[in-house]
Amino acid sequence: MMQSSDDDTDQTYGYFDDQNYEYVITTPYTPTPWINYLGSNEFYGIISNTAGGYCFDRDPKFRRLTRYRYNSVPLDSGGRYFYIRDENDFWSATGRPATTQLDQYSCRHGMGYSRFNASKNGIATQVTSFIPLDTKAEIHSLVVTNHTQSTKSIDVFSFIEWCLWNAEDDGANFQRNLSTAEVEIEGSTLYHKTEYRERRNHYGFYSVNRQLDGYDTNRESFLGPYRGFDRPEVVEKGQANNSFARGWSPIASHHLKLELAPGESQSLEFVLGYIEVSVDHKWHSKNVINKQPAKDMLTRFDSHEKVMDELGKLNRYWRTLLCKFSVETPDDKFNRAINIWNQYQNMVTFNLSRSASFYESGIGRGIGFRDSNQDTIGFVHMVPEKVRARILDLSSTQKFDGSAYHQYQPLTKKGNANIGGNFNDDPMWLVLSTTNYIKETGDFSILQEMVIYDGQEQATHDHFDHLLRAFMHVINNLGPHGLPLIGRADWNDCLNLNCFSDDPNESFQTTQVGASDVAESVMIAGQFVLYGQEFVDLCQQVGKIELANRSMKHIEKMRKTIEQHAWDGEWYLRAYDSRGKKIGSHKNSEGKIFIESQGFCAMAGIGLNDGKVEQALRSVDKHLATDFGIMLNQPAYSQYDKYLGEISSYPPGYKENAGIFCHNNPWIIIAETMLGHGEKAFEYYRKITPTYLQNRQTLLKTEPYVYCQMIAGKDAANPGEGKNSWLTGTAAWSYYAATQYILGIRPVYQGLSIAPCVLPSWKLIRVQREFRGAQYSIEIHNPHGLSSGKITLSIDGQPVEGNVISSSSFNGQHTVIATMV
Ligand code: GLC
Ligand code: GLC
Repeated sequence: MMQSSDDDTDQTYGYFDDQNYEYVITTPYTPTPWINYLGSNEFYGIISNTAGGYCFDRDPKFRRLTRYRYNSVPLDSGGRYFYIRDENDFWSATGRPATTQLDQYSCRHGMGYSRFNASKNGIATQVTSFIPLDTKAEIHSLVVTNHTQSTKSIDVFSFIEWCLWNAEDDGANFQRNLSTAEVEIEGSTLYHKTEYRERRNHYGFYSVNRQLDGYDTNRESFLGPYRGFDRPEVVEKGQANNSFARGWSPIASHHLKLELAPGESQSLEFVLGYIEVSVDHKWHSKNVINKQPAKDMLTRFDSHEKVMDELGKLNRYWRTLLCKFSVETPDDKFNRAINIWNQYQNMVTFNLSRSASFYESGIGRGIGFRDSNQDTIGFVHMVPEKVRARILDLSSTQKFDGSAYHQYQPLTKKGNANIGGNFNDDPMWLVLSTTNYIKETGDFSILQEMVIYDGQEQATHDHFDHLLRAFMHVINNLGPHGLPLIGRADWNDCLNLNCFSDDPNESFQTTQVGASDVAESVMIAGQFVLYGQEFVDLCQQVGKIELANRSMKHIEKMRKTIEQHAWDGEWYLRAYDSRGKKIGSHKNSEGKIFIESQGFCAMAGIGLNDGKVEQALRSVDKHLATDFGIMLNQPAYSQYDKYLGEISSYPPGYKENAGIFCHNNPWIIIAETMLGHGEKAFEYYRKITPTYLQNRQTLLKTEPYVYCQMIAGKDAANPGEGKNSWLTGTAAWSYYAATQYILGIRPVYQGLSIAPCVLPSWKLIRVQREFRGAQYSIEIHNPHGLSSGKITLSIDGQPVEGNVISSSSFNGQHTVIATMV
């Protein structure tokens, strides 16, 4: 039964192909470039629906191979381009940048690959782009087919532009860069060895498995004076210049002439690779780089069969990962979100944090402490080893006082001193990621790993000590009401209560005036109770009973403090500012109510028994909910207030100023499930989940297969318009809310607990779940049409007390029947 497929009627720009795990885009001219990501480990590419974008090794700032012009015109400039020339006509095999109208175009974004189909004048092309597993190269496999009745002579021109490694310098210090470019050409491989003679141990290359009819490595020679990518002079005239770059802007372009008989297909395998060589193997001879590693790599991709074989491996890799959790409910949009796209986005977000997207340049931000810890909760069931490593990396950037650097740079894994710390919610996220990791894997050994502090001190402390210091950091930094001090900001980067900036040249994020021992955050208070409780449970698990009891007292005290000083009557306050004034109170004229403190205090169960949670959620529904999702605050701030900071610098309805900041909507969804409100939880869930938004693709503008960070709120010019897609904590949180709280399949220390809170109309749910080495086929039966409540449980036909599948069955295959009663 496909409950909701009828509202998929708008296919202006694209549609889902679930069979192939693909989204099919049917026009090059989407409202924004609709991108995909290539790569699953260290080497990544971002690729738009017209092959725009770039690739990099580990760090999109310091190891960027190719050049991209973000935030510029025309939109989406720079990429892996293939110009096809047939007599005097030419076009792009990926729909752009040539503006020639195609007879047919589609882009299929799949799991780790993108495929572009185009045809014109009876010539069909297919470009398949991907990064093979464990390989530092993008493969672009081009198949050209002649569907006409006559023999065709076709010219193919490839094109990429090199970035000179440091993407920031490439745009900022180009007076230097314009003199540094160096290339080597050997056979069909164009090498980019810029700066190689100096401090570098790496180079790039672009190759094709066929003899060349020409090449270009100098951009201006290829494009012609003052031309853009839409009509390079070389393509127009049909002959490469064999240009050799010395300085200026190096590119790599192959020219290939194909003769195609009627009905004939030919394939070309392009490899855009990255090589690191040790210092003593850098040179083959003076000024000639050691090309052997590149040649070795090329032998893996020198035929279409080999390339397709690698693509097959990638496909199987993804199918295996996606099988770890899959669901069959009566709602195909829910299934599609959980089984495919949300999991896919979770991995991408985990891998890239907030660094490289169409909205993030890759030079501005490293791996965020709070962001990455949260990203693990959507990803840990897929590749837990990576999560373990990430948690320990994050832990090693923590400072000795328990606070944290807000970000670290992936190449050095050192805390980023330019940004520093003092975002006082940061530490407790480490407790979330660690406890969630242990519940998934049962691996308590992570607690005993020795981890340095601040990237420098001797590793004489274990990871558990880091969690304790995170916990104590909150306790050691309380304000006048006994609530946690906010520091520069809490989860909301833009609520800057200690900034007071009158100077437009100052960054809100890094400006902090004075000791700031007054402004307090109710969000951190709720977070502390929630994850503090997790810390206490963990202490109990590992037998630290005395510490558990001591810590519990701090939590109880915080709980009371919140009830006493942070309840506004109908909802939780948001903060106290630097003057001790309330923020997020009915007494304020703007910013009366905020979502974050409702979410965290509710999830922590503060006031669950006396109706406060219920009341706070009713207030959220009344004041913040819209058709497009739940807004962050209301009423929006209408003017800049230096006591509030960046939040009040945004126009009403955007970003943190009353935008729908999707990341925090799942907090409310989870809170609703805690009250057993399955319908309400689901209503909020479907408002922001892309699989339900197909009919809104024109309004939304962003990719309708992934979550975006922000949807414009009701005060905006265009409510419902999305921005900042892909790299957002929304992915992990939505997945976590849907799987652990709506479906209610939740890892706990003892095993897997089952506590669904679903739509009453869902009578049967099937889940396949891999967990700690076992495979569970779980059926949730809901014969009475309930939302939540008690369940009876049986495993392999044997009734079980309670609702936890426990470790006695942690091997092999098991059938679990849960019945809602
Ligand atoms: C961005 C940041 C995240 C922050 C949020 C709210 O998504 O990456 O760290 O919590 O904005 O300001
Ligand atoms: C800006 C954005 C916020 C983001 C922050 C990261 O303040 O508004 O969403 O978290 O930058 O530095």
